[in-house]
Amino acid sequence: MKSGNNLVVHISGNGQGIPVIFIHGFPLDHKMWDNQVEFLKEEYRCITYDIRGLGESPAGDGQYTIELFVDDLLEIMAEYTIEKPVLCGFSMGGYIAQRAVQREPDAFGGLILCNTRSESDNNEGKIKRAASVKLINMEGLETYVTDFISNCLSDISLKEKKGIFDKVISNSIKFDSLGVKGCLIAMAGRTDTTSFLEKITIPVLVIAGLLDKIASPLYMRTITEKLRLSEFAVAPNAGHLAPLENPGFVNDVIAGFLRRRITH
Ligand code: MLT
Repeated sequence: MKSGNNLVVHISGNGQGIPVIFIHGFPLDHKMWDNQVEFLKEEYRCITYDIRGLGESPAGDGQYTIELFVDDLLEIMAEYTIEKPVLCGFSMGGYIAQRAVQREPDAFGGLILCNTRSESDNNEGKIKRAASVKLINMEGLETYVTDFISNCLSDISLKEKKGIFDKVISNSIKFDSLGVKGCLIAMAGRTDTTSFLEKITIPVLVIAGLLDKIASPLYMRTITEKLRLSEFAVAPNAGHLAPLENPGFVNDVIAGFLRRRITH
């Protein structure tokens, strides 16, 4: 269905259950959470959506900030009466989730940070984003997306689950390049949420991928150590795309965290 802010939203599962909102990463869409939604839907109200400019949510003017993505999330929560959800953000979705909790600390019941970072881009990172925008302009989205997603995967996934990831790539190359570039610029301009981590009072689950080169397990452990109420898990046989590369592990860890820590 289409929300009032024109985003594609999917709500499934147990309408009486605790709501869990899944925020996907870049350059992906809500489908990255299919395994988790399927696993959790009997017990939980599962909400996924396509971030502005990705998947089936229209790109609009392509001028995005993480603040705008948080506005979008809060508008979805208000429109569908989603109270005190657990936010589960993967990578760019994690940037949005952290900033949402920082802006509205009382609005959420728990937080799951999956393969993500709290630091903003340094100068090298910003220059890399600019180069990515240039590459998309010069060579088109397909080259960029194929390279980017392939780099996210562990060697094991590239060999053993190639079919799954070919499907992910062929989905993402159809996105509107204006939306993809808008997300790159939004990520380059995001704030640093590191000093906020120790102020978070809700339970947080941190999930890393053992072979993640973008948000390494060592780095994600440093995030966990700053949090008050946290659990930490490292998915084996997974690079940056842990929910897709090792869904069984990620599903079990999320289900365990929700059962133990979230009780409203
Ligand atoms: C993502 O998976 O969402 C991206 O890798 C995040 C990023 O590029 O910083």
